[in-house]
Amino acid sequence: MLSVVVLISGGGTNLAALLAEAEHADFPVRVVAVGADREADGLLFAEQHGVPSFTVPLSSFDSREEWGRELLRQIRCWRPGLVVLSGFMRLLPAEVVRELSPRLLNTHPAYLPEFPGAHAVRDAMAAGVAETGASVIVVDEGVDTGPILAQERVPVLPGDTEDTLHERIKVVERRLLSEVLRGIAEGSVRLEEYAR
Ligand code: GAR
Repeated sequence: MLSVVVLISGGGTNLAALLAEAEHADFPVRVVAVGADREADGLLFAEQHGVPSFTVPLSSFDSREEWGRELLRQIRCWRPGLVVLSGFMRLLPAEVVRELSPRLLNTHPAYLPEFPGAHAVRDAMAAGVAETGASVIVVDEGVDTGPILAQERVPVLPGDTEDTLHERIKVVERRLLSEVLRGIAEGSVRLEEYAR
């Protein structure tokens, strides 16, 4: 069984999908805790599923490094086999990435390396592309530059807004993340290959 800590910043709809899937006996993944960098709405999903949560706001610390150390301390308490950034909208300090990677994944609403960063869907709309996508990557010290574990194209449809496009991308993200987590749990995806 793969134990996972999920970090979020916002609505947590991808987290909600993972929590629901993790309740199926044949899905070899358990969410052991959910962390956030603010009072994120998505923490409610953890509560609904009886999963413990913790909040570590950057503003409570004198530096990003101290914030990162507290985040690490909270994560370590759960001894997870993997940490997943699921809509976690802050860059992690290098010390945190070095300790957790390659057992540190991120889902991203674009076909990386296209449209990295915090506004991937808006950027794709602004660029007028016919298709964008969804990716699941190993987090490294860059911004969305880590090894790609899974990705899939998503078309931009006539009449799409940023919200409608993002919703369709998230459906794909949830499936890709689920497949990757199953692969890690069952041994077909070997994160050790991405250790540096
Ligand atoms: C997801 O699309 C996730 O990939 C994205 O935030 C959304 C979170 O949605 N993350 C990034 O853009 C990170 N650069 P949710 O809070 O409804 O799960």
